[in-house]
Amino acid sequence: MAVDVILGLQWGDEGKGKIVDYLAENYDLVCRFQGGPNAGHTIKIQDNKYVLHTIPSGVFRENVINLVGNGVVIDPVTFLKELKGLDQAQIPYRDRLFIAHKAHLILPTHRLLDAASEASKGKEKIGSTLKGIGPTYMDKTGRNGLRIGDVITDDFQSRYHKLKEKHLNLLKQFQVDVDFDLEGEEKKWLESLEVLKSLNFVDGEYFINDAINDGKRVLAEGAQGSMLDIDFGTYPYVTSSNTVTAGVCNGLGIAPSKVGKVYGIAKAYCTRVGSGPFPTELHDDVGEKMRRIGMEFGATTGRPRRCGWIDIPQLKYTCMINGVTDIVITKLDVLDEFEEIRYCENYDINGQSTDRLPFDINHAGISPTYSSYEGWNSSLDDVVTYDQLPSKASGYVDILQEAIGVKISMVSTGPERRKILHK
Ligand code: GDP
Ligand code: IMO
Ligand code: MG
Repeated sequence: MAVDVILGLQWGDEGKGKIVDYLAENYDLVCRFQGGPNAGHTIKIQDNKYVLHTIPSGVFRENVINLVGNGVVIDPVTFLKELKGLDQAQIPYRDRLFIAHKAHLILPTHRLLDAASEASKGKEKIGSTLKGIGPTYMDKTGRNGLRIGDVITDDFQSRYHKLKEKHLNLLKQFQVDVDFDLEGEEKKWLESLEVLKSLNFVDGEYFINDAINDGKRVLAEGAQGSMLDIDFGTYPYVTSSNTVTAGVCNGLGIAPSKVGKVYGIAKAYCTRVGSGPFPTELHDDVGEKMRRIGMEFGATTGRPRRCGWIDIPQLKYTCMINGVTDIVITKLDVLDEFEEIRYCENYDINGQSTDRLPFDINHAGISPTYSSYEGWNSSLDDVVTYDQLPSKASGYVDILQEAIGVKISMVSTGPERRKILHK
């Protein structure tokens, strides 16, 4: 049995949560492979809206087991809030939720370091969600980190204090004042950790490989987007994990030969939250209209998302890196009221036309070359099958498929579970 993958092809917030929740029905396991509470995955079931940060988006499905993989970084405080949200919604998660021993812990001082690092960068700040992601992955690769499996060992408290002291020493180098109630945050953190201990901890790599060998169907859920990948994104304006398909293998402990379908999720336009290059960004009324209709405000931080037209060179690049087999276009309905739709086919860089992303995307002086398409100017609200789409809407999907060169197999036309069309 293969492990299928869902990941974002742009700069995050493509609608991964919705698609994972929708497809989870066909799987036995849903496993998050990287990232942490910097993610915000929104799921709308009937009139209820849920936002998950660390817990996999398969948790609303009765017969689905959810694994938080070793590649994920966990903040016990956020995790507990998510659990409380599930309690309120009467979702019985206890038997459905498992955490890999090797997942790393975000300490309160990781968040403090994140805030100090950002404050010290001034104009060059990353626009981090300030959830402690960078410092936690730094401790992981620096071989200092604490893991979920460590929580139940006798020397956990002393290791925690040792790492905290190290962080407080590191903090001095930043020479900035950060408003952070360390004592209060630490108290909440330690209390939340006690609750976390009551959950199911497993050796994730055995757990998932046993499931695969038993013929179980597995779906891997990515966070962020490929343009935020630590290696292939718009560095340094990226997150600190491998958000691409390769991240599935080391974030869960499966062999590359086990990867099956790769669903790449992309909006019918493009957004980015935080700093960094965004070649097709719009600074005008059109971008404002996208933000308003698409309700483009961050699910984790509430920040307004930057908006722009879809970028074909960027999508070709992320389809290549990820080996995407199926694209899912989301938020097609957001373009319902646009008389003209544009898509960027090429970049002009110093008078040269190219469909390749330059190394120095931050300074390359990219001018996008756009093609124009006449919008469908009608609501997709009542459309329930793909062939009911107005011809101009399906025509736009055809153009995207042709330009990117990868099959588009589904189109999403609203936040609700049922608003999905199979092509
Ligand atoms: P994720 O991080 O990739 O899971 O995406 P987010 O949840 O951060 O952001 C996507 C937003 O778009 C959420 O508010 C979703 O409810 C919403 N959404 C998802 N698919 C669609 C769609 O097809 N149409 C519309 N209008 N909204 C959608
Ligand atoms: P989901 O899974 C969109 C962005 C931040 C910032 C950069 C680094 O919901 O798609 P970090 O907190 O990792 O230090 O932030 O990455 N970012 C996201 N943008 N969606 C996300 O997750 C993101 N997670 C991080 O805004 O620019
Ligand atoms: Mg999101």
